[in-house]
Amino acid sequence: MVETLKYLSLRNRLSNRLLLLTIGFVMLAEVLIYVPSIANFRHTWLKERLGAAQIAILAIEAAPDYMVGEKLSWQLLDSAGVLAIVRKKDDNRELVLGTDKPLDVEARYDIRSTDWWDLVVDAFGTMIHQHPNSRLIEVTGYTSDVSMDFLQIIFEEEHLCHAMFNYSRNVLLVSIIISLMTAVLVYVTLSRLLVRPVQKITDSMIAFREAPEDTRRQIVPEDRQDEIGVVMQELSVMQDEVRRALNQKTHLANLGVAVSKINHDLRNILASAQLVSDHLTTLKDPTVQKLTPRFVSAIDRAIRLCENTLQYGRAEVEKPRLETVPLKPLIDDMAISLGCPEDGPVRIVNNLPANLTAAADPDQLFRVFLNLGRNAVQAMEHVRLNKGELTITGRPEDASGTIIEFCDNGPGIPARIQESLFHPFHGSSNGGAGLGLAIAREIIEAHGGHITLTDSGPEGTCFRIELPAA
Ligand SMILES: Nc1ncnc2c1ncn2[C@@H]1O[C@H](COP(=O)(O)OP(=O)(O)OP(=O)(O)O)[C@@H](O)[C@H]1O
Ligand SMILES: [Mg+2]
Repeated sequence: MVETLKYLSLRNRLSNRLLLLTIGFVMLAEVLIYVPSIANFRHTWLKERLGAAQIAILAIEAAPDYMVGEKLSWQLLDSAGVLAIVRKKDDNRELVLGTDKPLDVEARYDIRSTDWWDLVVDAFGTMIHQHPNSRLIEVTGYTSDVSMDFLQIIFEEEHLCHAMFNYSRNVLLVSIIISLMTAVLVYVTLSRLLVRPVQKITDSMIAFREAPEDTRRQIVPEDRQDEIGVVMQELSVMQDEVRRALNQKTHLANLGVAVSKINHDLRNILASAQLVSDHLTTLKDPTVQKLTPRFVSAIDRAIRLCENTLQYGRAEVEKPRLETVPLKPLIDDMAISLGCPEDGPVRIVNNLPANLTAAADPDQLFRVFLNLGRNAVQAMEHVRLNKGELTITGRPEDASGTIIEFCDNGPGIPARIQESLFHPFHGSSNGGAGLGLAIAREIIEAHGGHITLTDSGPEGTCFRIELPAA
């Protein structure tokens, strides 16, 4: 078996693409999850800070006259992680804890509004504004103490930044681990279910194309009920049928060669018989004189049959050499070749316009005309028509092509032949090989045209040739 893998670069292999795509998609999903989660993390962190500040306020409220020493005050601020705590209660805004010195607050955030988009923008703002010299920010929010209007804390943003970056690092780490694990699982599963069977199918197709007659290269379908199983079964059946057809064609070709050889020798034998028959015509014996013409014509017919068969087997129609052919003179030539005198029992009426032309190979077109003409004349002579007439008409078609029609008033084509009229060796009623119309069709189709039987009955027969422009 030919390994397809060697034809594919590493990047193009289905399995590797799947692996990369899975990692990519899982990472993308993690990013989509990260955006809201980092915003939520910051919101929760700030709420926790406000909660810690509220506990510090409770400690102060527990002191007599709300007075605490400077040391305890710093300890309370330190444990809440803030520099100042301000509250608004009963329309009264007061600094509960913190230094009396003015603090240089650079940004203010209000987390009482929980608009999702604002939270995301603020979260990324915090991370982007991270600065070596940490800035001070003020955060306003609600607490669980409903008597309070709001609570404000002032602290260094650096703490928040650190926490957010730590959180992001963890998310990234978890994302990488999850995406790798998922990718490996998806990779292994898809490899087994899809990639390997597809490789097997591809290998079999390439191997089959290289040597279709070799039965070992036929795919052995796996026992699966899914689409891949159906593909394998169908491929196996198709390979089988193609192999049979090829074998049959080879047999037929061999047979054709053998028939050609036999025909060739038969023609030589008949040629000898023809010599004898020619000699017989010179004898005076009345019986011989009576029988010889039939004998001669039978031998002539047999020789023609051999020659036609040989010719058909030998060659496909050559590619036509197109030129502009005047049609009327060509039909005149055909009439001369068929040897139908004006006053004979069969007349050929050439009704083509004098200036009608076609884009065709003149020799090949002449063969077509001769075959159609000979068939008509033979049919009419066969029934001994006294006024047999083959009329040829024609006209240009859509300024681009040409139509030529052969109509006779002969006996019509026997119904049993009509179906397969244009197939070689498929029936003859005039002692021919049954090749004339097959050859005619081959030639006309090589010109890109059509030949059809348009009418046939006791009144006569009509063939139409349509030739396209060059
Ligand atoms: N104009 C026609 N009128 C009556 N029968 C026809 C006419 N043209 C064709 N046929 C019938 O169609 C048959 C097939 O014609 P075709 O030219 O293909 O082969 P053939 O004439 O039998 O043999 P070949 O042309 O090879 O010598 C003829 O045998 C004849 O019976
Ligand atoms: Mg014929």
